Amino acid sequence: MCLRGCGCDRSGVGQGVLGLRAALLKRIAAHVGTPTYVYSADLIRNEVRQLQGALARIPHSIFYSMKANSNLSLLGLLRGLGVGVDIVSGGELERALAAGFAPDDIVFSGVGKSPRELERAVEVGVGLINLESAGELQSLRGVTEAMARKANVGVRVNPDVTIATHPYTQTGAEGMKFGIPVDEVLDIARDIATSPYLHLASIGMHLGSQIAAAHAYAEGARKLGSLIAELRGSGVDTLRSVDVGGGMAIPYGDRPGLPMREFVEAVAPVAVETGLTLLLEPGRLLVGNAGALITRVLYCKRSGGRTFAVVDAGMNDFMRPSYYQAEHPISVIGADDAAPDSLEPVDVVGPICETGDYLGLARRLPGLKPGALLAVHAAGAYGFSMSSTYNSRPRAAEVLVDGERVGLIRARETIEDLWNREEAEPQWLPSI
Ligand code: LLP
Repeated sequence: MCLRGCGCDRSGVGQGVLGLRAALLKRIAAHVGTPTYVYSADLIRNEVRQLQGALARIPHSIFYSMKANSNLSLLGLLRGLGVGVDIVSGGELERALAAGFAPDDIVFSGVGKSPRELERAVEVGVGLINLESAGELQSLRGVTEAMARKANVGVRVNPDVTIATHPYTQTGAEGMKFGIPVDEVLDIARDIATSPYLHLASIGMHLGSQIAAAHAYAEGARKLGSLIAELRGSGVDTLRSVDVGGGMAIPYGDRPGLPMREFVEAVAPVAVETGLTLLLEPGRLLVGNAGALITRVLYCKRSGGRTFAVVDAGMNDFMRPSYYQAEHPISVIGADDAAPDSLEPVDVVGPICETGDYLGLARRLPGLKPGALLAVHAAGAYGFSMSSTYNSRPRAAEVLVDGERVGLIRARETIEDLWNREEAEPQWLPSI
């Protein structure tokens, strides 16, 4: 029976929140306030080691996709575990450098890198720049020529593989904005070869996110394998790696995770058969289940036959429920895990003036009353990193628990932070 109030048939709360004692989470909430994201260093280490272990037989490099969670302390932790980083913007590039990543350990992905961002990437010597269009190739060509600097490039292919996930997290199907269509890759490779500054080092894909079925990876990897053969047949002999992207699903609520063994069986052949190094860009897998959002119940009320718990975290803090209808387990911290079946379902909603502002609907939660502390599970990825200040709400604090130590890794934003780049009187621009 589900004890997390998510309506699934899994038991979960027995393992608590991130394997941490309720008393500790209560102390964190009392000290740092709520809402607060709490992460477990041990759980992140476990995830990385499991992935590294599963890939042990295959030459590989893991590049953590930092859009999932780009807190500098987490980046430092991951760097220490021998992981590189996958970035998609100039801001993420500077974060990666600030966190101490060597440029060589950075892969620059993303569908629209600006000339300025490409310039900076070439200047610092990023290890690999994954191109997503002919236009972007021209942009990078211009940048490298102007700087007389070389760059390793990859081609992100759109392999036309459809995955069963939320439509907003599919990226690898035909007709989507991502990647270069298979039938254009050869021309792009020829074009790259004409530049003395560009070196085609990698071919890759990224199929989407929260992918639980390994066969999608197998299908994409097979297509990459054929392309690699075709490229080699036409004289391209510079490839060093094949990049299968990220997207590995984590289990949460009634959502299944991607079985690691099946994943490795799906992607290993393309690396083994081509003799290329396997690159991976996992985001959620490494941090998703290592984080929880801690929020406090402000009020309980009834309306139109429904019961609501109004909490102090909203869709601005955690937008996955309202944006993707994601059903993250919610539990009451320190409440008796006694069977909640007898309890009436409660909508856990935020304070924001939007009907879509909720963290969970129709949850059966024991011990729910004003002042109760709730944990929203599996919130380590795409939680804080997608948060905003909508409704002029300062963004949440972030805390890392490492063994017995508890560290603040991002202070709660202040009210002044909300407008510190605004002008109460317009700064008129006379030259425009
Ligand atoms: N590589 C590339 C090029 C990506 O665009 C992404 C994610 C990843 C790797 C990492 O994917 P992951 O392993 O985390 O699934 N905000 C959504 C997820 C969007 C992912 C965007 N790209 C969510 O909350 O589900």
